[in-house]
Amino acid sequence: MRRTTVKELLSSQELDREVLVKAWVRTRRGNKYVQFIALNDGSTIHTLQVVAAAEQFPEESLKEITTGACVAVRGQLVASQGKGQAVEVQATEITVLGTANPETYPIQRRGSDQKGISLEALREIAHLRPRTNTFGAVLRVRHALAFAVHQYFNDHGFFYVHTPIITGSDAEGAGQMFRVTTLPPEHPPRTADGSVDFAEDFFGKQTNLTVSGQLEGELAAMALGSIYTFGPTFRAENSNTARHLAEFWMIEPEVAFNELEDNMDLAEDFLQSLVKYALAHCADDLQFLNDQYDKELLARLQSVVDNAFQRLTYTEAVEILKLAKQKFEFPVDWGTDLQSEHERYLVEKHFKKPVILTNYPREIKAFYMKLDDDGRTVRAMDVLFPGIGEIIGGSQREEDYAKLTTRMAEMHVPADELDWYLDTRRFGTAPHAGFGLGFERLVLFVTGMANIRDVIPFPRYPKNAAF
Ligand code: 4AD
Ligand code: MG
Repeated sequence: MRRTTVKELLSSQELDREVLVKAWVRTRRGNKYVQFIALNDGSTIHTLQVVAAAEQFPEESLKEITTGACVAVRGQLVASQGKGQAVEVQATEITVLGTANPETYPIQRRGSDQKGISLEALREIAHLRPRTNTFGAVLRVRHALAFAVHQYFNDHGFFYVHTPIITGSDAEGAGQMFRVTTLPPEHPPRTADGSVDFAEDFFGKQTNLTVSGQLEGELAAMALGSIYTFGPTFRAENSNTARHLAEFWMIEPEVAFNELEDNMDLAEDFLQSLVKYALAHCADDLQFLNDQYDKELLARLQSVVDNAFQRLTYTEAVEILKLAKQKFEFPVDWGTDLQSEHERYLVEKHFKKPVILTNYPREIKAFYMKLDDDGRTVRAMDVLFPGIGEIIGGSQREEDYAKLTTRMAEMHVPADELDWYLDTRRFGTAPHAGFGLGFERLVLFVTGMANIRDVIPFPRYPKNAAF
């Protein structure tokens, strides 16, 4: 007999038939006449109630049915007599596929969720936390968002491009890249002057893990028109915050002929579509997260879908921040980079909706951003979200070869290493624009979780690469 998922069974209209379900035990409770086993198989946040009558299943025969054990249950799917569920399964046969010793299984259920175990403690058992309601919900929402990303771009004529994970250029990530090498750390080969001889390394040169697929994405956009990347990126910055990971996933669309305005339109429509998708397809999981963690979650998600984002320039934002009554830890002055406290003031206090900041001072932005006519600012664009701060960073790109190489020289970006990139400007250059969306920041926003380490299965951050 084929197994049916808990999700299918709970919404089934076809009652009074034999079914087979395979799942993990969440709880078992009851009395000497009847035992109730709550089963979850990951297909939904909800559990299926299995009823085991004592005449067929004496309590003694159920002693291995403890929280965390895996079972296969055959029985009749019937309308439930109890409240709290529409259907239940009256067991005729229960097979224990795998026991979970209650003395050692770390995820014991208390009340409606794992209220007894903190999210911090669950991080220490990241390999088991998908068994909890919370992480089940987060992982299903994460999946739905990843699917929605591909669907959005496919529907809009974008091509998915795979950019390299190991990169031979460190131009964009100076100082914060992870080295990739096969040289022995104790005795690396040395050149005549005593420095490490990377000519002997696997690739015959120094290589790193990528910090962004953008530069390669630009090459593809100059051929395919509209492209996006969606892959892992790595940053060795020592940021021990609830918003930073050392390994995270980034989505980077890049579009030929788009200018800053088009880039903003794309970012806004894209984000709203993703949130709308989650609201439509993850209703049960989001309701659970709303009830357990963040009572304003659903209202906040809806408000992002319903309200146009506020667009203003960096210069205008600095004026607002200078007039703010709030005391900031870091002072604001034209030319300084905005801190997360400033971004959140604009979004959460001043405008009370997502904000797109544009035209930042050239000194605080990357070399590839297009210079504005005033020569002081660049066509940068950051999207700031409530509770998150920066969720997207992007820009219109400098398409002019002479201006781009001048800026690279000013910023000490090695042109010889990026000769391949400069070919886009040498041959058939065109205006183009793109951005990067941090996928975990999106998942953080949509799930209402407080820490980015809780929205990726195996978080990597300073001093932590367990599992
Ligand atoms: O602003 P960033 O650094 O932009 C770029 O990398 C550009 N190459 C993107 C582009 O124009 N194609 O990063 C983009 C986004 C940020 O807005 C943030 O959401 C996320 O990536 N991000 C991080 N997410 C988690 N942990 C980190 N350490 C992150 N650093 C950036
Ligand atoms: Mg940024």
